[in-house]
Amino acid sequence: MRILLLVHGFNSLSQRLFVELSEAGHDVSIEFDINDEVLAEAVDLFRPDVIVAPFLKRAIPETIWRNHLCLIVHPGPVGDRGPSSVDWAILDGVDSWGVTVLQAEAEMDAGPVWASATFPMRPATKSSIYRNEVTDAASLAVAEALERIQSGVYVPARESGVARAAVKQADRAIDWSRDDTQSVLRKIRGADGVPGVKDWMAGRQVYVHDVRMAEGMTGEPGSLIAKSGPAICRASVDGAVWIGHLRDPESATPFKLPAVRVLADESADLPDVPVDQDNGYQEIRYVQDGAVGYLHFDFYNGAMGTERCQRLLAAYREALVRPTKVIVLMGGPDFWSNGMDLNALEAASSAADASWENINAIDDLAEAIVRTDSHMTVAALQGNAGAGGVFLARAADRVWLRNGIVLNPHYKDMGNLYGSELWTYLLPKHAGSENAKRITEARLPMSVHEAARLGLADAVLDGDRSAFLQEVAAQARSLAGDGISSLLAEKKTVRAEDEAEKPLSAYRAEELARMRRNFFGFDPSYHVARYNFVCKIPKSRTPVTLAHHRDRRQGLAAKGDPMREAS
Ligand code: COA
Repeated sequence: MRILLLVHGFNSLSQRLFVELSEAGHDVSIEFDINDEVLAEAVDLFRPDVIVAPFLKRAIPETIWRNHLCLIVHPGPVGDRGPSSVDWAILDGVDSWGVTVLQAEAEMDAGPVWASATFPMRPATKSSIYRNEVTDAASLAVAEALERIQSGVYVPARESGVARAAVKQADRAIDWSRDDTQSVLRKIRGADGVPGVKDWMAGRQVYVHDVRMAEGMTGEPGSLIAKSGPAICRASVDGAVWIGHLRDPESATPFKLPAVRVLADESADLPDVPVDQDNGYQEIRYVQDGAVGYLHFDFYNGAMGTERCQRLLAAYREALVRPTKVIVLMGGPDFWSNGMDLNALEAASSAADASWENINAIDDLAEAIVRTDSHMTVAALQGNAGAGGVFLARAADRVWLRNGIVLNPHYKDMGNLYGSELWTYLLPKHAGSENAKRITEARLPMSVHEAARLGLADAVLDGDRSAFLQEVAAQARSLAGDGISSLLAEKKTVRAEDEAEKPLSAYRAEELARMRRNFFGFDPSYHVARYNFVCKIPKSRTPVTLAHHRDRRQGLAAKGDPMREAS
């Protein structure tokens, strides 16, 4: 089928549908919902069989839904209506939730239902539930809806429902003198990543993000009692929480930053709990099981700033001296890595210098992984990865992906960044030169299956999150088994041959020379793109890489354009 994905932005759910529907053989194109005229033009150009809207912030115009079959993906169960479905589900503490695929009509979320799916809820942030459970359920429900449409006999049922108002900040407000830890966690998680909970902290009005239970910490309810890494600890009536990130919309840096940075003065004298202590804000955690060491690094939004990379490298080096044979780099449950920390770079006094330090810190890590000859290394991706994060994963000997995650193995959307992380060595080595070129130039999200086909990954492991973790453990144990000595010997030989052919330092130097131009050169594209990304500036048009119906060459080819046929 010809499927037009109509989206407010190409978010994780839209990306997942794009890769899955394309793999299922559908002709999929994407249009950002800019305005009615642009949308009408897209529909005229593409002539879709069906329009699927996985992420919209307004109703589809009547001229479109009256003339074309439009499916809305609503992140709530059948009968639920309104713009804050997952927020309410978390605030209300429901046990299960769902996704409904319904036909667009005049009243929002009230059209006939083509398919639906449900899932058990988990104590997690809104964006984590959205990126995982909602996305998995949407993938199933959209596939079912399309099958039913293709069957030509299914009649979608009209279901009754109640529209619920958008969640307001008043609904999320924390009363620190009365709320217990669980209520505080629910309120902040229900608003994370966007918009955060508006709150007063140390006399400043800020938006609160990135909350974790602070085990064993107590204090005067509402008071700030400690700091740990990026986080500040605030007491509730029966315990305390770590708050990792804050956003001060009135400041010169009105985007998410580490809490200790936003409240630098106010947190200066707080007692410091080391990040590697059990009751601290632990982002990096090492767990050993027999001959396998697992290094978990759960960085907020997968952003790997300079200091985080340095801490991770130190933890990696410590893991290397343990009596193990395999190290599994686990990333975090939601993201493995999204590369450099763009928010931190935007806030730096010299973004160019800070970017230079950040890319060098990631490269140090990539180099340490590639040069490891004492262990087999595995990158096990439970969550999505983007840009440099994907290539950092490829530095490991084995890359295992959880089925359903999405990779974005390209840098060019960030102002034509050249990229580093030794990708010029790693990609041709694992994927071949042809595929390496295809991967970096496509600027599109990639499914796990395509990543495995192209050599960007070695295996796709099925099952939900816990099944994935069990399978990773089983395969890592087996990797550490009898054949490990010959694997390590072979790895040493291949590395020595590669080094003789071209030293790693040469790859790194060449990549960094290009990155230096991106950071310090005349072309400001990277700095502009970073600003737009961090400040969430809406796109004013859909890039032709996504809106292939707008690719002029395609239209000409369809009309038998000789230039196109010759090229
Ligand atoms: N640094 C800081 N924050 C980042 C980040 C990064 N490298 N990558 C993603 N984020 C944040 C986003 O701002 C967003 O924040 P929010 O919680 O305030 O909404 C959150 O992580 C989720 O990202 P989002 O872009 O909404 O996810 P997505 O699934 O739609 O898209 C990517 C995934 C990877 C395509 C996209 O996040 C991206 O392009 N990231 C930048 C990658 C990059 O260029 N890194 C630097 C070069 S190495």
